[in-house]
Amino acid sequence: MIYQLYVRSFADADGDGVGDLDGIAERLDHIASLGVDGIWLNPCYPSPNRDGGYDVADYTVIDPRYGGMPAFERLRQAAHARGLKLLMDLVPNHCSADHPWFKEALAAAPDSPARARFIFRDGRGPDGSQPPNNWRSVFGGPAWTRVAGAGGRPGQWYLHSFDPSQPDFDWRNPEVAGMFDQVLRTWFDRGIDGFRIDVAYAMVKHQDLPDLDDPDGENPYTWNQPGVHEIFRRWRDIADSYDRDLALVGEVWLPPAEAATYISAGELHQVFNFNLLQQPFEPEAFRSAIADAIEAQDHADAAGVTAWTLGSHDVHRAVTRYGLTDPEVLRTTDINAIRTRARGTVDLELGIARARAAVLLLLALPGSAYLYQGEELALPEVQDLPDDARQDPIWNRSGYTEHGRDGSRVPLPWRVGERGFGFSDTRTAAGDARTVARPWLPQPAWFADFAIDVQEGDPHSTLAFYRRALRERRNLDPAAPLDWISTGRSDAVAFRRGNYTCVTVFDGPPLDAPGDWGEPVISSGGTARGATTTWYRMR
Ligand code: NOJ
Repeated sequence: MIYQLYVRSFADADGDGVGDLDGIAERLDHIASLGVDGIWLNPCYPSPNRDGGYDVADYTVIDPRYGGMPAFERLRQAAHARGLKLLMDLVPNHCSADHPWFKEALAAAPDSPARARFIFRDGRGPDGSQPPNNWRSVFGGPAWTRVAGAGGRPGQWYLHSFDPSQPDFDWRNPEVAGMFDQVLRTWFDRGIDGFRIDVAYAMVKHQDLPDLDDPDGENPYTWNQPGVHEIFRRWRDIADSYDRDLALVGEVWLPPAEAATYISAGELHQVFNFNLLQQPFEPEAFRSAIADAIEAQDHADAAGVTAWTLGSHDVHRAVTRYGLTDPEVLRTTDINAIRTRARGTVDLELGIARARAAVLLLLALPGSAYLYQGEELALPEVQDLPDDARQDPIWNRSGYTEHGRDGSRVPLPWRVGERGFGFSDTRTAAGDARTVARPWLPQPAWFADFAIDVQEGDPHSTLAFYRRALRERRNLDPAAPLDWISTGRSDAVAFRRGNYTCVTVFDGPPLDAPGDWGEPVISSGGTARGATTTWYRMR
């Protein structure tokens, strides 16, 4: 069980309104109290922050704005002292336009070794004024940007699968692979326990960069290309050369059968399943998403495990997704966005009941579980951020039609009645009072209802529920296979793992549990209409 930390938004120790590593270290008790095994830090390297730090200008150090290397060492020690593993985020598909290699490439000639680290091409048309192909960026707009050439005249184009400030590396260039080998070793040598790997499936592009038949559709030329698995075998060898347990976890937005190939022997230890979080809260949708992943894993003879999750810094929070009563149709071609970033009116009671039922079901699955900060508070998505506060590049690249992901990244509410809900420390390390800056994204007044201190004293709070659920999960045998159980009810999904039975009623009255399921040991609560997961345990 891993707790995902959006570093800028967990806690702020130095009072500048932006979260930092000392903020995390000082408030590790909250994370430890949940009973997780480790933490994953979203990127906290030097970055111009055009894409929340996924535009890395230097892979080898921590940005001073998050406390730099001294704060990293304090956090590493504090985490390890509590038995928490520490995973970092590795961003190998692209860097920041501020990375020295890209600056060098811009200053170099076409066909130079400096440009060969990226994907530079001449444009099409008589004057090269058309992009080299018709690919679109994931964030909207073309995937190519033209740079200045000799004498300031328009020059070549470079590929950026995401924002123009994120040039894609050319992974066919051994220099790129060599640089990342070093990055892995640098951080492993500093004592971290693994990496979550950004856009792991898309690092190698089709050699010919062919045009897409439908430029607004998916781009298969960017995933599963020959050479991508080779990178992970190489990294696995590096990880295995260390004399301790290290984990490589891939961000792979692919159907289960393809995703499972990334955890074959000698490759990654874990691969995310994003299929489940894209499903509506419906029994057949959940059952088949789980069954497909397990079947794919068995079929691929996978050596690693599935990493299950219901939320992240990239999708709307689960409470909001499951509680939407009138989803607006999004004007976007990004299929993931349509499924996970719809907006509209939310029935909070229903959304919270469903999110709790969904997570209790998820915690019963074989594999690893990732929790995104704030979900233990049942935090909804902040849909009503002021437009001028929005920072996600999706907002402007979509022509201000898609809100993007800022609403799941708002700084956490810790204490009611304090400025910024206690997100920033109002005392210096020496204990002197100080005025703190406003949180970098504004928190709505209704965050008060979800604050950690409000939930601390309430045994019925979602926070208390998460602690109970994670504690109970420790008794589950990780090796126990999942066996489906038929309940005779189409509104329910049930399965057995070892001596536990997990049943989710999606929409209907409680289920009469047969005696051979044992005693109920934990329930997610639910509403009058259902949306309840219960675990039973045999003696
Ligand atoms: C996936 C990350 O989770 C997301 O936040 C980022 O924008 C893209 N990859 C590009 O790095």
